[in-house]
Amino acid sequence: MKTVFSGMRPTGKLHLGHLVGALHNWVKLQDSYRCIYSVADWHALMGEYENSHQMVDHIYDMTVDWLACGVDPERSIIFLQSDVPEHLELQMFLSCLTPLGWLERNPTYKEQLREITTRDLQTYAFLGYPVLQAADILLYKAQAVPIGEDQLPHLELTREISRRFNFIYKKDVFADCEAIMTPTPRLLGLDGRKMSKSYGNTINLSDTPDEIMAKVRNMLTDPKRLRLKDVGHPDECNVFSYYNTFLPGQVSEARLWCEGATKGCTDCKKNLAEAIIEYLRPIREKRLKVLADRGYVESVLKQGAEKARAIAVTTMKEVRTAVFR
Ligand code: TRP
Ligand code: SF4
Repeated sequence: MKTVFSGMRPTGKLHLGHLVGALHNWVKLQDSYRCIYSVADWHALMGEYENSHQMVDHIYDMTVDWLACGVDPERSIIFLQSDVPEHLELQMFLSCLTPLGWLERNPTYKEQLREITTRDLQTYAFLGYPVLQAADILLYKAQAVPIGEDQLPHLELTREISRRFNFIYKKDVFADCEAIMTPTPRLLGLDGRKMSKSYGNTINLSDTPDEIMAKVRNMLTDPKRLRLKDVGHPDECNVFSYYNTFLPGQVSEARLWCEGATKGCTDCKKNLAEAIIEYLRPIREKRLKVLADRGYVESVLKQGAEKARAIAVTTMKEVRTAVFR
């Protein structure tokens, strides 16, 4: 079986964007790969070093969400990055041979420095973000990495770094890894911008049915459709774009009632909210089970770290031999 590796920074409760953009795929991949999923707390700390006290809660909340969605500790390795110190050791080996220019040219890095103004990201660690990500992937010799588009430059860097390692030490320790892109189109936030906790425009996996109903009721619709008898333009309506994901069987019907002005936006949104509530029902139920068992989440991460570490230790032996012998 080939190995899949992916990680997510623990930034708190997950939302629908995480589910359709990543977690669904993670769950599905468990059928055909050995999957290793890491709670990337070191990566989170690079951005959140001033809010580090929240990390413990964020790690817990995110792990609960993973388990509720069906990431399965019986089949996959689920662990906390900082529980496996080999990540930092490999990062150091890789840092030594990574040219500064590769990191400074990284488009994701440049974009984040430009866009994130609430935190000072002009740090030594943050520049090296992709080196730690490369270490994550290479430590387990993963062949496939499910990621979003914004992470593609990091995967390209991973390949360049691993080739440079093999070239300098004249040993094929690492093989190339490829991206697995999620097929689902990206879900926008409730206000039509990118769905993100920092915009406050998310539907969280842990939201109650009432909360979901209220959030969907407040979604913006086609601004040209003010009254029931006005014809609507579904392609300019964020609510309609949600139908693709949550009510695929009603997309053409919804287009008809919108363009023909036969159903109002209030009903159209109520219909969507009910579908989302239903869609999240199994996750809600699983969450209750996970939360009922105190200590379960901790034991999952502990056992995951042991399994991850067994692999990591083996790779590090090879790395040290390649570098020093
Ligand atoms: N940087 C990734 C993100 O923000 C998270 C991550 C950390 C990751 N380590 C990884 C993703 C290794 C894939 C592989 O989404
Ligand atoms: Fe949007 Fe539905 Fe209203 Fe049309 S009827 S504008 S799709 S909310």
